[in-house]
Amino acid sequence: MPRLTADRRHTVRFTLNGRAVEGEAEPRLLLVDFLRHVLGATGTHVGCEHGVCGACTIQIDGDPARACIMLAVQADGADIRTVEGLAPAPDRLSVLQDCFREFHGLQCGFCTPGILMSLDAFLRAQPDATEPEIRTMLSGHLCRCTGYVPIMAAALAARDRLKANPDA
Ligand code: FES
Ligand code: FES
Repeated sequence: MPRLTADRRHTVRFTLNGRAVEGEAEPRLLLVDFLRHVLGATGTHVGCEHGVCGACTIQIDGDPARACIMLAVQADGADIRTVEGLAPAPDRLSVLQDCFREFHGLQCGFCTPGILMSLDAFLRAQPDATEPEIRTMLSGHLCRCTGYVPIMAAALAARDRLKANPDA
């Protein structure tokens, strides 16, 4: 992490979806605002801004993390993945994204990037996750419009498809 001086901007460098990026950030700038406003990665959404709703969830060094309760300068040197990095190719969705599309696991879609980033990490770490375990994990994400039924259907389908083909 760079040595901080409160009254000036600092250069923050990290890997974003496999690409080296950098930008200037005041010490108080949140990581989620750095991603959106400095780097233009607007796929990560901002909801509650205090670590409750899960909308801002990204992956840092492979683990899900809330970008609204971390400062941009703390991410210096990290490997960051956002929803923009989920699809394996511009014309191909990931298995998880495809299941959300098929089961219509979204309505307004505001919560969806965060849920996808959590589920992606969760299903990789726990390929045999049970339905209650997936529900418990999803309880850390507040969705205002789906009632969670299609989200669960998509998550279960993704679990089964990834288990059958872990390299997909
Ligand atoms: S915006 Fe980060 S948890 Fe709600
Ligand atoms: S789909 Fe609208 S908040 Fe979740």
